[in-house]
Amino acid sequence: MSATDSTEHTRRDFLYVATGMAGVVGAAAVAWPFIDQMRPDASTRALASIQVDISAVEPGMSLTVKWRGKPVFIRNRTEEEVLAARDVPLDDLKDPLARNANLTGQEPATDAARSAGEGRENWLVMIGVCTHLGCVPLGQAGDFGGWFCPCHGSHYDTAGRIRRGPAPENLYIPTFEFVSDSVVQIG
Ligand code: FES
Repeated sequence: MSATDSTEHTRRDFLYVATGMAGVVGAAAVAWPFIDQMRPDASTRALASIQVDISAVEPGMSLTVKWRGKPVFIRNRTEEEVLAARDVPLDDLKDPLARNANLTGQEPATDAARSAGEGRENWLVMIGVCTHLGCVPLGQAGDFGGWFCPCHGSHYDTAGRIRRGPAPENLYIPTFEFVSDSVVQIG
């Protein structure tokens, strides 16, 4: 990469690496092109649902897909990760709401209200956009083993709930359903 390329890259990522701290870890952050959403064809894409084959996503692994211009995280949690999330007292949560579009929106942020539901408690499907300023958090990272947003240091737990740092809300859960054991439809 030439010096020019490097400068360009830095400029393009400015919004996502706005602090000095991020300068150190910013290289690990993925800058998602949100500007994409402003294009005229966005209205067409906004209606779309997508189906994702998750058969290869073993426990402990996750997949990121693009839906309506945004990354969506699909994570197959290990039993330990599920138990860790369940063990968190609700009083410890910064954002008490489940933020799950499949529910009414007012449920408390229990692990059950965040996961894919009975029989699929291991699965989490979430919009992969930090609720602080819109970076894409890194999976299997952070103080709580969930996600870490390196832009300004937000830590999410294994249920995608904000636990430390400046982000105000839990990662959002889009409408989705399991079409079969191996295919999830988002939207
Ligand atoms: S965008 Fe600021 S911590 Fe994620």
